[in-house]
Amino acid sequence: MKIEKARKQDFAELMDLMHRAFSAGGVDHDRFEELYPDLYQPTSESMGCNYIIRTEGKIASVAGVFPLAVRIGDTRLSIAGVGGVCTDPRHRGKGGMTALMNRVVEHIRGDGYALGWLTGERDRYARFGWEKAGSETVVQFLKLRPQDRALHWKVADLHPARESLDAVLAARDALEVKGLCDDETFRLKLQRKHMQVWQASLGSAFAYVVVNRKFQWLAEWGGDPEGVRALLNHVMTQVPLLNIAIPRRRDRYASLWQSVAQQYGKAVENLAVFDLLGVLKAYKPHFAEAWPRSQAVHLVATDGEKTLMSAGITDGKPQARAPRGAFTVRLPQLRMVSFLFGPHSPSFLLDLPPEARWLDQVFPLPFTMPSLWRV
Ligand SMILES: CC(C)(COP(=O)(O)OP(=O)(O)OC[C@H]1O[C@@H](n2cnc3c(N)ncnc32)[C@H](O)[C@@H]1OP(=O)(O)O)[C@@H](O)C(=O)NCCC(=O)NCCS
Repeated sequence: MKIEKARKQDFAELMDLMHRAFSAGGVDHDRFEELYPDLYQPTSESMGCNYIIRTEGKIASVAGVFPLAVRIGDTRLSIAGVGGVCTDPRHRGKGGMTALMNRVVEHIRGDGYALGWLTGERDRYARFGWEKAGSETVVQFLKLRPQDRALHWKVADLHPARESLDAVLAARDALEVKGLCDDETFRLKLQRKHMQVWQASLGSAFAYVVVNRKFQWLAEWGGDPEGVRALLNHVMTQVPLLNIAIPRRRDRYASLWQSVAQQYGKAVENLAVFDLLGVLKAYKPHFAEAWPRSQAVHLVATDGEKTLMSAGITDGKPQARAPRGAFTVRLPQLRMVSFLFGPHSPSFLLDLPPEARWLDQVFPLPFTMPSLWRV
């Protein structure tokens, strides 16, 4: 099967195919260029993120790989996000997706990404290295109680296509957990279909929220926590409920979520580790905070008898070799993803001896994929 990268002139055909493929079986799927205007544009750069296979000259299968950057405290992650994987209903079951996913994995490795992320069924992507993992909590609000209302804030719509985003961008600067991109891409993200942006001000204080109205998700928030509270209060007059995935890390919004949450759940998506040492290096700031003194671990990811990747950490410092006297965690590749990223703690996942229970202090690693960065 010949695999190519899509080109600028393929835009219309590709968008039609993706819409057709995702709408098969009577699903009312939105068009991708409306859902993700920041990802799908008629440019060489944008189209070049998509691997395609043609049958008789027409695009039959596609898989996209998008570079994503996320900050979680002092940890900065470069992630390969995979999205828009589909095959024309007339050409399914012929190995199109499989060939493209193999190519996507090669691309991710070739570009040196340590981590891959995607949404979708576990079984479909497990054979390419992705496992359901993650440590976020999903919180749901149904209504705010009178005592949760923030008074005096002035709430207004914000139209990202034509209004200044200066105040929003300034508020984003202070966010500890956030997706990273240039300002124009962020403006496009705010225009993803179903998103609505609201702002609140009180004197010089400012806050904003971005809500996905169709799926009733709080996609992003920033600025003064009391302003966010006022905005939630306003949004809850317009939607019946609101979900939000909150990072495991405590930040200035944590007590707000705790005070208004009515339901709690866990969020998991598919994560793949392509470079174990690379992942550990990215999390050095986390280890610097959490690592217990004079402890060491040796992590080995396996495929049957074969070692795929291995790395060590001693005193919070990642290294290529096994540290002396380290506790060894040897796991198949997918289980290693669970060990690193949860949702369970190491002592739930493994039968750890008491002297290794300290691993629960460090793992799972905090990971968040901000809603507007999903592909
Ligand atoms: C899912 C989809 C991309 C598969 O495309 P395809 O080109 O027919 O896939 P392939 O022929 O390469 O692979 C089918 C193989 O994957 C397996 N597979 C596909 N979906 C699977 C799933 N959910 N669970 C387990 N295995 C799955 C099949 O059993 C088959 O295995 P085989 O190679 O051992 O025979 C296609 O059905 C599609 O476009 N669906 C609608 C859009 C969609 O849901 N995309 C995924 C979004 S996350």
